[in-house]
Amino acid sequence: MHTTAIDRRRFIQLAGLSGLAAACKPSWLYAATEGRYAREASPEFHADVEFELTAGVTSVPMMPGKHTVVWRYSGKLLKGPETALVDLPGTHLGPILFFEKGQKVRIYFRNDLPEANIVHWHGLHVPQIMDGHPMYDVKTGSGYVYEFTITNRAGTYMYHAHTHEATGRQVYNGLAGLIIVTDAEDRILDLPRGEYDQPIVLQDRSFDADNQLQYVQSMRDRHMGMQGDEMIVNGKRHFVLPVATRAYRLRLMNGSNSRIYKLAWEDGTPLTVIATDGGLLEKPVTRAFVMLAPGERVDLWADFSGRKIDTDLTMKSLPFSGAMPGHGGGARSGMDHGGQGGGMMGHGMMGVMHGGEGGASGMHQGMNRMNHDEQSAGGGGADGHGGMGMASNSALPLGGEYAVFKVHIMREEKETHQLPSTLTKHDRLQRADAENAQSPRKITLSMARMQWLLNGREFEMEGASPEETITMGTLQLIEFDNGYTTGQHGMGMSGMSGMSGMSGMAHPMHIHGQQFQIIERKIRDDLSGGYDTVSPGYVDDGWKDVVLVMPGEKVTLLKRFDHFKGLFLYHCHNLEHESMGMMRNFKVV
Ligand code: C2O
Ligand code: CU
Ligand code: CU
Repeated sequence: MHTTAIDRRRFIQLAGLSGLAAACKPSWLYAATEGRYAREASPEFHADVEFELTAGVTSVPMMPGKHTVVWRYSGKLLKGPETALVDLPGTHLGPILFFEKGQKVRIYFRNDLPEANIVHWHGLHVPQIMDGHPMYDVKTGSGYVYEFTITNRAGTYMYHAHTHEATGRQVYNGLAGLIIVTDAEDRILDLPRGEYDQPIVLQDRSFDADNQLQYVQSMRDRHMGMQGDEMIVNGKRHFVLPVATRAYRLRLMNGSNSRIYKLAWEDGTPLTVIATDGGLLEKPVTRAFVMLAPGERVDLWADFSGRKIDTDLTMKSLPFSGAMPGHGGGARSGMDHGGQGGGMMGHGMMGVMHGGEGGASGMHQGMNRMNHDEQSAGGGGADGHGGMGMASNSALPLGGEYAVFKVHIMREEKETHQLPSTLTKHDRLQRADAENAQSPRKITLSMARMQWLLNGREFEMEGASPEETITMGTLQLIEFDNGYTTGQHGMGMSGMSGMSGMSGMAHPMHIHGQQFQIIERKIRDDLSGGYDTVSPGYVDDGWKDVVLVMPGEKVTLLKRFDHFKGLFLYHCHNLEHESMGMMRNFKVV
C-alpha cells in the first residue's frame, strides 16, 4: 500500500487535537467467544486492513467545565498500515478511517452501548449485509463482522449509526466518524497533503446547564429536525484551524442532524470546490457560497497565501430562506400557504412559524410578508411563541447568519502548489441510457398524519413497492419531488387536519449504494424567492449521494444499481425525519 508514507503525518497536526492514542478498552473478549457476533468473520475473506470498532459510552470536554457524556465509536487497528485508523482524542467523533481503493477491509464491530446499534458506511458501495441496514441492529454485548472491498473513488465519506428509529438520537450522542479514501488518481494530482489536508466536521449541539447534550425537546425539534445552540466543529466548540500562508484541502462534512449551512468566507473570498460526496470534480468550480445539507461533503481548495500573519478568517453560514415552513419562502410564498391551506391553516400558526423559525430576520420577513399579503394577515407574526410548541428556540436559527469556524493565519510559508485545472474524468451518465428514460421513478416527499412520507408511505423494514424494485445492472432515472408537481410542497392535504402550519420543508435526500449524478432541477415559480437565496450554492457537477431538495423543487438524477442484489435504503438525511420513518428501500433484483 502506498498510503503509509503519504498519510503518516497527515493528522498529527489536526487542529485542536494532539496525539494518536487509541482509546480502546474492550469490556469483554470477542475473539475467544464464538457466537457473540451476529455475523462472524468468513475465513475465505483475506483482509488487508482489520480493526475493531466499539460503540461505547464515554465523556469528553466539549464545553468549559464539566465533561459531556457522549456515545462514541472507538477503534483499534489489528492489521494493516498504522495510519489506517487515526483517533481524534478528546472528541465524540470516531477515529478517521483511511482506506485505499481496492483494499479489503474487515471490521469487528462491538456494541457496548446500553441499547441496539448498527454502523452504516455512508457513500461506500457495499453489499446489503455490509451496509448497516437497521434490520441488522445488534443488541448490547453483541457484535457484527463487516467484510467488504473498497470500490469507491478517492473522497470524503463517513460512517454513522443507522439503528432502527434511533439514528438521529444516536448520531447526536456522537456515533459518527469520517472515512477518507485515496486512490491512484488522487495521489497523482498535486493536491495539498499531510497536515495541509484537513477534515472539518460541522455539527451543532445543545447543552443543559450541566454541560450535557440536550436532544429533541419539543414537537418542533422532532418534526423539523434538531437544531443545536452551539457549533461543534471537529468535536470542539469555537473551533479554530491554524494555517500557514499556502494552499489547503479542506474536507467539509455536514455531520449535523438537520442543520443546513450556506457556507462563505466572511470577507467574500469565493469558495473553490474540488470534490463533492463521491470524490473529485472534473475541474474545480467557484461559488460565492456553498450549500451543505446534512450528509453532504465538499472538498475546498483554500489558498491562504498573501494573508497577514496573526489574522483570522471566519467561515460563516449566511442568511437564506425557504427551507422551512414560514421561512421566507419567497415573495409569494405567504400567499401560497394561505391559498393552499384553503382556510384550514391557522393564520396565527403561520405567524408562530414565521417568528420562530428565522429568529429576528425570519420574524422580519414574516412580518413583511404579513403586511404585503392579505391572505395571511391574521396577526401572530410578531409573537413568535406559543402554539403547539413549534417555535424554534435555537440560538443559531436555521437560515440566520453565524460563525461556523475560524481559520487563524499562524505562519508564513512559501509553496508552489497550483490548483490543477482538471482533476479527473467522469463517466457522464446519459438520460437516454436509463432503463426507464421515458418514465422516471417518482418519489414524492410529503407529510400526512404528523409523519414525513415517501410516495405516501412510511418505512417498512423489508418492504419495497413495485416502483422501488430495480433490476440489477441498470441505470435508473429518479425524481425527488418536493411539491413541484403537486403544489403541496411536502404537505399532503390529509396532513392539514392533524397539523396545520406544517407545510413543506427542505429534505436532503440520500440513496445508499452507488453515487449518482444530478441532471436537472426545477422550482415552482411561486417558491423561487427563497430558492434563489440557496440554489446558486449547489454544486451538482460531480458524484453525489445526498441531494438537497427545497420546497417546491424537483430534482432529477441518474443512478446505477450494479453489483449487488438486495435492499438498499434511501431516506431523508435530516436524521429526525429518517428516524421517524422518512426512509424506504430500493430492492435490487
Ligand atoms: Cu448517512 Cu442511510 O445514511
Ligand atoms: Cu448512506
Ligand atoms: Cu426530511
